Amino acid sequence: MNYIGSKLSLLQFLEESIDKVAGKDCRTFCDLFAGTGAVGLHFKKKGYKVIANDIQFYSYALNRHYIGNHKPLKFSGLVKDIPNLEEVNVTDRAVVVCDHLSDLQGTEGFIFNNYCLGGTNLSAEPRQYFSDDNGKKCDAIRQKIESWKKTDLLNDDEYYFLLTTLLESIDKYANTAAVYGAFLKKLKKSAQKSIVLTPAMLTINDQEHLVFNKDVNSLAKEIEGDILYLDPPYNQRQYATNYHLLETIAKYDNPEIHGKTGLREYSAQKSLYCSRKEVKSAFKDLILSAKAKYIFLSYNNEGLMSAGDVKEIMSLRGKYGFFTKEYGRFKADKSEKRNYKSNRTTEYLHYVVCNS
Ligand SMILES: C[S@@+](CC[C@H](N)C(=O)[O-])C[C@H]1O[C@@H](n2cnc3c(N)ncnc32)[C@H](O)[C@@H]1O
Repeated sequence: MNYIGSKLSLLQFLEESIDKVAGKDCRTFCDLFAGTGAVGLHFKKKGYKVIANDIQFYSYALNRHYIGNHKPLKFSGLVKDIPNLEEVNVTDRAVVVCDHLSDLQGTEGFIFNNYCLGGTNLSAEPRQYFSDDNGKKCDAIRQKIESWKKTDLLNDDEYYFLLTTLLESIDKYANTAAVYGAFLKKLKKSAQKSIVLTPAMLTINDQEHLVFNKDVNSLAKEIEGDILYLDPPYNQRQYATNYHLLETIAKYDNPEIHGKTGLREYSAQKSLYCSRKEVKSAFKDLILSAKAKYIFLSYNNEGLMSAGDVKEIMSLRGKYGFFTKEYGRFKADKSEKRNYKSNRTTEYLHYVVCNS
């Protein structure tokens, strides 16, 4: 998923830098602003027990699958619903289940009625986040996943695998420049194609992992780990508004929505890390309460906190240092006509080796 602040292309830099600082005895890696789960997944593959967390529910769903799921998915409950599933090898069943969902007849549900032209063109706020067909398909697939879950035909592992698959797949057909803060007037090419579910990748290993959907400052007081990796928002752009549609597809809770973009209420997910006024005190509270041997922070040279602020706060816990790397800007910025002088930024990985 093309996600604001994704660290997918910085994984090698993160791994090499972290390896230079953290001792070989580290077993637990906590990714507490986990987003797409890319960083946690990388360290899960390296053999760490991962603790992942994010305040957004769509992110919880992604991490509950990419991090939390670590055993094969059998879909035993669906053998009566899906013809021939029983005869299919366990390793191939996910593909058959996804094909079955992709072939469902579309239905006019919450997404079609509120975010597609066919459902909104007579309303005060016509919206076109998806083609009519993809909106109806999304509704049909989401409703089927929920009814399977409600009737105990899916276990939690299978449920979050399917939610992740739907979120990752529908995102590829969205009629947006990059994020859901706005939709395009005309259906772009990729949005005109019919949605086909691509099964989300499953990483099997023998570690149990933990995944949370909490505010980071309260979770940090409850958990402990060897390495704490923090990747907060860098600026004032709230993830709750930029990804509101993914949140609604993940929760499918028929929320009250308003305005041109059909935004859901998000006061409980408003991040202090996006507030110039609040960020330093939230970060200080987090650093002081974190129970870890090493704390790492990804941030860039244009973030709400200066490198000096970060150093001052992290040094409260022990020996401070940092690594840097030049990095390309998130693509959506261009379409939003932001007035940046350069399309490269300096990515920092700050760290502190904690005294206690
Ligand atoms: C820069 S992104 C993380 C990107 C992630 N490392 C990746 O590679 O996909 C920041 C994330 O922090 C989450 N977030 C913001 N404020 C939070 C808070 N107070 N508690 C927990 N998560 C928060 C956002 O929802 C967003 O997913």
